[in-house]
Amino acid sequence: MARLILAALAAAMSCAAMPLPWTDPLRKGATGTGVMMLQQMLARQPGIAAPLNATGTFDDATEDAVRVAQAANGLDVDGVVGEQTALSVLATLAADGYRDDGKPPSASGHKFKILFVVPRNRSVQVEGSLIAANGSTVFRFGARLHGVNAGDSGDDVGCPPAAWPAWSNTVGLNQFSPCGNTPTGLALADLNSPEDEPDKYGPYPVVRMVQGLAGNAKFLVPHVRDGILVHTGKWPGWSPGQTLPNSEGCVHAEPESIHAISEILQSMGVKANKNRGGVLPYPYVPQGLLSIVQSGA
Ligand SMILES: *[C@@H]1O[C@H](CO)[C@@H](O)[C@H](O)[C@H]1NC(C)=O
Ligand SMILES: *[C@@H]1O[C@H](CO)[C@@H](O)[C@H](O)[C@H]1NC(C)=O
Ligand SMILES: *[C@@H]1O[C@H](CO)[C@@H](O)[C@H](O)[C@H]1NC(C)=O
Repeated sequence: MARLILAALAAAMSCAAMPLPWTDPLRKGATGTGVMMLQQMLARQPGIAAPLNATGTFDDATEDAVRVAQAANGLDVDGVVGEQTALSVLATLAADGYRDDGKPPSASGHKFKILFVVPRNRSVQVEGSLIAANGSTVFRFGARLHGVNAGDSGDDVGCPPAAWPAWSNTVGLNQFSPCGNTPTGLALADLNSPEDEPDKYGPYPVVRMVQGLAGNAKFLVPHVRDGILVHTGKWPGWSPGQTLPNSEGCVHAEPESIHAISEILQSMGVKANKNRGGVLPYPYVPQGLLSIVQSGA
């Protein structure tokens, strides 16, 4: 009896132990967004036989790539993505290697770019740079790109967080997961009129990440991650100058920074398009770019 209960407990725990964004082990035949994200990461594994296609179906090529990754990291080579392999993939293959091309936004027909360089550990506040069409940096501001904590969620799936607002000194839940860290890479972005809830999002126009073009953002935004904004808030218990709170994947900045960004953008001829929330397809031509580079490994 006790042994039966222990076995049941072990089975339950081995499922619960899969790190987000996955909730169950993945093996040949599995399909879906979780497999697609696994394939995108495995495609970065040195030594795989051929370019791995992110088809969303765990096929023979995926299994071979899993075996290569397992062997490279000293794991049991069984071609199945259980907890240890999933943790290893996240630790070694999550970084997209995206680098900003340094070109002025006008080179791609855009009116602005906002650039952030972030460490993997998102607990630190970083500097954001607002770059005009001609490539000059016109404003610098402090920002935090930390989503919820791993395990700090209301429903065990990352989103929504159990508490709001919340602060922590953790790495943050990975960018592939609901409400996790702000995804890295290049994305189309646009200025939108203020959100409806000023306490949560501030009273100023916000910059919306519309669609990924490179790096992790390319396969995450908007179909896996959406509603990612550069915004502020009237967070209870917080005042300007203090550490910014964790987000649900957005970029957080001080009220005066977000105010300044919206004023500067509009002075450069950027229109604050009427905020339609996360409606897809995005109803306007995005006027700018968000470029988020992960420093280090
Ligand atoms: C990936 O897709 C391309 C084009 O469809 C194909 O030529 C290639 O064989 C595929 N690679 C694998 C590993 O399946
Ligand atoms: C992340 O950085 C914070 C300091 O900002 C530090 O306290 C914490 O230990 C770091 N976490 C890891 C896992 O490195
Ligand atoms: C670049 O654009 C900004 C914003 O429009 C402007 O203030 C600045 O003078 C321009 N710089 C050059 C070198 O033209």
